Amino acid sequence: MKTLNLLVLPGDGIGPEVTAGALKVLEAVCERTDLHVEIQKAEFGGASIDAHGVPMTDDLLKLAKDSHAILLGAVGGPQWDAQPTHLRPEKGLLQLRKGLGVYANLRPSTFFDALLDSSPLKPEVCRGADMLIVRELVGGIYFGEPRGVEGSGDDREGFNTMRYSVAEIKRVAKVAFEAAQGRDKRLLSVDKENVLEVQRLWRSVVDELSSDYPDVEVEHMYVDNCAMQLVRRPTEFDVIVTGNMFGDIISDAAAALTGSLGMLPSASIGDGPGLFEPVHGSAPDIAGQGISNPLATILSLAMLLRHSGQRDDLADAIEKAVEEVLARGLRTADLAGSTGDSVSNEAMTKAVIDSLKFD
Ligand code: IPM
Ligand code: MG
Repeated sequence: MKTLNLLVLPGDGIGPEVTAGALKVLEAVCERTDLHVEIQKAEFGGASIDAHGVPMTDDLLKLAKDSHAILLGAVGGPQWDAQPTHLRPEKGLLQLRKGLGVYANLRPSTFFDALLDSSPLKPEVCRGADMLIVRELVGGIYFGEPRGVEGSGDDREGFNTMRYSVAEIKRVAKVAFEAAQGRDKRLLSVDKENVLEVQRLWRSVVDELSSDYPDVEVEHMYVDNCAMQLVRRPTEFDVIVTGNMFGDIISDAAAALTGSLGMLPSASIGDGPGLFEPVHGSAPDIAGQGISNPLATILSLAMLLRHSGQRDDLADAIEKAVEEVLARGLRTADLAGSTGDSVSNEAMTKAVIDSLKFD
């Protein structure tokens, strides 16, 4: 079988700890199966600003484009917050997404039964909820031109532009339709077409495309209503497709409902290599203490093996191992709450490795 060339970008804060956990799992998978992986590591985000003066170098983008997949920890931290926008770690992330053309960001919100008590919602409200948010990732208001701040005094004005072409909407909607076909066959497109022209176009493109997927039931919802329904009836959702900024916002809400942001993986895919990262941030307040939760990155590794490695079998094995350690009651600090006992990142990682089973 072919070798999987992997670029690992640990990043900042807890990024290096959580990627270290995922890499230990990967090493165990390679030892016990026929998987062969070639790994390169590089500085990214704040770490790259410190080493090279910019959050992402041209060399790094080239390295990323030449790999099969990229596993990223997290970027950002207070020491870089005062930098001008183009020199902030987050800018590196946006440049990497854009440079790779990973237009579809898949963010599953899985409600693990073992973690129902960690959810801010009542268990009876969220039991069984299982949704996938497909967020457009390289367009919309994040990248639209014109943008800037102009003028002087009280006339100084900041502006950004939300734009989507039919082609941009189509390609991400296709990913969402196909994802729905592999799940409960329900797709909800989230927009703000009552106010914004670009969102009216969004809705019409999704509607047009729906005739290609007669087996998928399509609905539309305004983003504000969606925010409300997410907390009222999270079990109603299957696949959600939406633009870049709305997706950013509702995916954090959907993530929090599951009890911990520390659990959620993501996959960003386009026509080339995929980018896989936990949904949580760099959590600088707990970095270096060994208490971070590696599970979101371990689950991102599973998504990587599924989407970029075509190894559903290995992805399933990792996901099952995670479920098993949670069912056994193991909790990192973020999951344990104020009273429960918690284990370190290292102990959690080891438990996952010990629970791995291959056919
Ligand atoms: C995310 C993050 C990023 C985003 C930031 C760090 C630029 O919030 O991945 O959701 O807004 O896309
Ligand atoms: Mg976000």
